[in-house]
Amino acid sequence: MTLYTILVNPESALKTVSHPVDQVDKIVQAQMQNMLETMYEAPGIGLAANQINILNRVLVMDLADVSGGENKTPICMANPEIIFESEERSVWEEGCLSLPENFAEVERPAIVRVKYLDETNTMQEGKFEGLASHCVQHEIDHLDGIVFTDHLSRLRKNIILRKVAKIKKDMDIL
Ligand code: NI
Repeated sequence: MTLYTILVNPESALKTVSHPVDQVDKIVQAQMQNMLETMYEAPGIGLAANQINILNRVLVMDLADVSGGENKTPICMANPEIIFESEERSVWEEGCLSLPENFAEVERPAIVRVKYLDETNTMQEGKFEGLASHCVQHEIDHLDGIVFTDHLSRLRKNIILRKVAKIKKDMDIL
């Protein structure tokens, strides 16, 4: 098991559009497994590869913690693609491991369908709503170099980015 270091904003990797994987081979499988362990350790419910400085289109998520279950329900995706989004919108308070200790309400399509390669290199399609919908859209945003503060007003965004910059500075001193 390898735990990756999670990048804290600002970092150029967090602004980079990641490239698709050719296939989910043993190397990508190992990356997915290590990303899951890193996410559980953090703890968080989603993690995108560029947050650990790997610039391929891979993400992991697991919402089990918030739904009260003890059993892990990991989802691993490579090359995820939103193939449907509802006109109905949804607002949810989002946070991000790369923007620690800060949260804000983000508005997104309420329901999305996503096509992706799973950890066995099999094409899957899933429907996501509620928190899962926000989570998967948030992680796919990461793969396009977008963080949740990019969805906020410039004022709200700047407040959070300043707070995160201070947290990052304090982390570097320790
Ligand atoms: Ni995030």
